Amino acid sequence: MKQLTFFALVLTLIQCAPKKDSVEQYRPQVHFSPQKNWTNDPNGLVYLDGEYHLFFQYNPYGKTWGHMSWGHAVSTDLINWTELPVAIEEYTDAATGDSTMIFSGTAVVDFNNTHKLCAEPNCLVSIYTSHLHADNQGLRQHQSLAYSNDKGRTWNRYDNNPVLDIERKDFRDPKVFWYPEHEKWVMALVVPDLYKVQLYESKDLLAWNLMSEFGPTGDTLRIWECPDLFELPVEGQPEKTQWVLSLSGSHPAGPTFVGMQYFVGEFDGTKFTSAQTQPLYVDFGKDYYAGIVFNNVKDRTIMLGWVNNWTYANQIPTGKWRGMFSIPRELGLKETAADLRLTQKPVKEWQTARVQKLNSINELQSQTFELEVDLQEGSGLHLFKSGNEQTTIGLRDGKLYLDRTKSGQVDFQKDFASVESVIIEPKPEKLTVRIIADQSVIEVFTADGLYVITDQVFPTHNKPGVDVFGNAEINAVWAVGKKK
Ligand code: FRU
Repeated sequence: MKQLTFFALVLTLIQCAPKKDSVEQYRPQVHFSPQKNWTNDPNGLVYLDGEYHLFFQYNPYGKTWGHMSWGHAVSTDLINWTELPVAIEEYTDAATGDSTMIFSGTAVVDFNNTHKLCAEPNCLVSIYTSHLHADNQGLRQHQSLAYSNDKGRTWNRYDNNPVLDIERKDFRDPKVFWYPEHEKWVMALVVPDLYKVQLYESKDLLAWNLMSEFGPTGDTLRIWECPDLFELPVEGQPEKTQWVLSLSGSHPAGPTFVGMQYFVGEFDGTKFTSAQTQPLYVDFGKDYYAGIVFNNVKDRTIMLGWVNNWTYANQIPTGKWRGMFSIPRELGLKETAADLRLTQKPVKEWQTARVQKLNSINELQSQTFELEVDLQEGSGLHLFKSGNEQTTIGLRDGKLYLDRTKSGQVDFQKDFASVESVIIEPKPEKLTVRIIADQSVIEVFTADGLYVITDQVFPTHNKPGVDVFGNAEINAVWAVGKKK
């Protein structure tokens, strides 16, 4: 009897043990995550001289939010990233002892050296929120500037910071871009608790003039953060473009979670206007937040977001790091029966992540893969299935859903075990979905990119565990990975 209990105990321990193989548990292979420590929002996304820069909110000292600084990674293809040393660090005022954290913001390529701080034109300038705090109390948020003469490797903070201060505790997340028609810089940023986006203009990145405000409108169930403003082509109408204002706030499933919404409208260089009457959302999963688009990329608009949700972000059971970023997505607009809607597709460089096309799901060997699947009403598939554990994706009552209630570790936080869903319009006979699975993240794209679900999952085993139910048909299977 005693021996039996002992064996049962050993068996339980083996089953609960973290999965072990060459992949560090939960470490995504084709999504960027820092080697160690905490990250949240992407910052300063910019392209310069063959390199894409991903700066990111980063705590150099630990696995939870704090000491916010800008981490840094670069890539030549948007898929394979190399992490570099911390770019801009939190600092302390020697006289007062108050600290300034480097909150979210932008980087621009200053073509003309408009502010005359750099040694040469084409230097990188970052405009970020300087968050002043003392004794764990936020005191003031203002906008500051730093510049780099060596392609973002080292930075100098501008001597006369801040460059914009309206004497508020919450005033943040500047997104700056060049507006060629008026030969000026435009900055969008939020007054979070007033649900307002403010638009400023500047000729030199140093002196800023308020032009207009947008909001409150749309979804105001949670504070607004991380705005962006960009022009997009309308699919199939070569001459037509519209502007999109995106921002982070509440989630389509309600304010227990955070999410992203957007407005489609016009921007005349001074004011953004939108005739939209109901809120529209970027992603219907729980793990897509703080997305912004790259500056200085010609002919396409690329966004990436933080794959996490503030509701449980500090508790997710990852290893020595916490937080990752989505696959970069090319954005567009599509005319639908309801009006213009945002589309998102993995960037074309995603192809480089496909290491092998497989004949069937039975050939899959890891939890990093891509599938193309045709769903019909009542059908679906399981991923990462083993024993009672599974993540389910399917089409039910005209809705695409992702159920992670049995996906593995779910009880590290009470709201994590969720089911995501979105109504597909018009009601589909057949829905083709593209699924990118990468250890602890699943991104599902469908209907030409009109609907996306991004969710984290934390399986306790390392099997691909794919099977289908109902009339679901697998069209294509790829093993996915890093370039060797
Ligand atoms: C959004 C956010 C931003 C802020 C940053 C701080 O996730 O709250 O508004 O700048 O994170 O890390």
